[in-house]
Amino acid sequence: MISNHYDWEPGSPAPVIRRHSEVKHAILRSYLVDYFLTLVASPAQDRIRLTIVDGFCGGGCYQNSSGKKVPGSPIVILEAMREAQVRIMDLQQRRKNIDIDVELICIDESAAAIEYLRYELEAMGYGNELKAGRIRTITGTFKDLAPTVIARAKDRSRRSGRAIFVLDQYGYKAVPRSVLASIFDTLHHAEVILTFNVDSLINYLSPGTLAAFERTTGFTGAVSAADLDRSIRSPGWRVHIQSSLYANITTTSGASFFTPFFIRPERGHGDFWLLHLSRHWKARDVMATAHWRHHNHFGHYGLPGFGMLHTGYAAKLNPENSLQAAFEFDDLAKLASNNAMLSQIPSMLAKYPDGIPFGAFFLENINTTPATRKMVQDSILELVRGKEVHVFGETGQKLNVRTDLRDAHILRLPSQKSFQFI
Ligand SMILES: C[S@@+](CC[C@H](N)C(=O)[O-])C[C@H]1O[C@@H](n2cnc3c(N)ncnc32)[C@H](O)[C@@H]1O
Repeated sequence: MISNHYDWEPGSPAPVIRRHSEVKHAILRSYLVDYFLTLVASPAQDRIRLTIVDGFCGGGCYQNSSGKKVPGSPIVILEAMREAQVRIMDLQQRRKNIDIDVELICIDESAAAIEYLRYELEAMGYGNELKAGRIRTITGTFKDLAPTVIARAKDRSRRSGRAIFVLDQYGYKAVPRSVLASIFDTLHHAEVILTFNVDSLINYLSPGTLAAFERTTGFTGAVSAADLDRSIRSPGWRVHIQSSLYANITTTSGASFFTPFFIRPERGHGDFWLLHLSRHWKARDVMATAHWRHHNHFGHYGLPGFGMLHTGYAAKLNPENSLQAAFEFDDLAKLASNNAMLSQIPSMLAKYPDGIPFGAFFLENINTTPATRKMVQDSILELVRGKEVHVFGETGQKLNVRTDLRDAHILRLPSQKSFQFI
């Protein structure tokens, strides 16, 4: 059996990185750079303050298949901060520096991994940050340390409650529901990037282990014993379990917005989920954009337009009850998304005979689509050009919008259209 675990032993070579970790690092880097660029939108801003918690940080480096050293997640985070700083200075032609005031807290239950990481950080020139406490390393389990680090993040950012938690557990047992809820209850602008091997979790689950899973994680009722009973499993049971787990984790986490995409599996390793949970649509949009950018490595089993999860995630089985090719975030997927939205949007708008503001329409449906805000806007504008949707201002005047929809713009079907859908 292929081991899914990495070990760091001080003085020994770093473990060989596997593809899913490389993909995860690429998206983490890309997401963080975009996150900082989005946060520092104005040249007048001179500081952003937040805490990043790498809750399962590992030893900070790996070797790739050609023996070259490659960074682990704590170093990826630090490099992304530096890259963002350079890009902000350049894009905004700033004279004054932008102060990215991040405290990075690295947690691992393995003392050996933490020792490896500290050595690596020193070797990479981060010794001063370690001394000054801008990078902290702690040995212990994430669950036990969560209350302390959540309080620390809140203390550093009382008003905005800005923090990112990178939680890279192996199976799903080390991030209880109550900890996610506490993160989102305490920190107004919290985000969680949660990765785990969903197939290894499903392999572990059985009618006998279900109660222990529910006790440890607090995700009760996500999966039934019947779902797991080998003798009465339904066709497509794995997809069904993935779908119910997803629904249970996201709806009980306390987050408002999600992306549910998986890292396309490498042979023998099964699906890795990369769930992004946040309380703000913009954060979700930045993550969805990163998925489209790294389309080679990501997929989801759902449908291209809206309703991808309600109907798509579990139901996307072909007549032989095997999984259809997953949605791949490529140009074809983009086209399919646009086509699906062109046919779905008019019937969705038919529910609102008086119209609905674009912002509200978008927020209502964002969690059910792989599309970004820009993609939804482009599809609506195509319908506007085809006179299938009309746009009105807040005071009721009809507008001729060509490029940018504002949140307050009211979308409405032409009257005979709305009649057709009633
Ligand atoms: C997948 S590796 C981490 C890799 C790292 N995030 C990266 O991308 O480079 C998982 C790490 O989590 C640690 N770990 C496992 N269970 C843990 C727990 N309950 N709390 C904190 N760390 C844990 C392991 O010792 C291991 O170093």
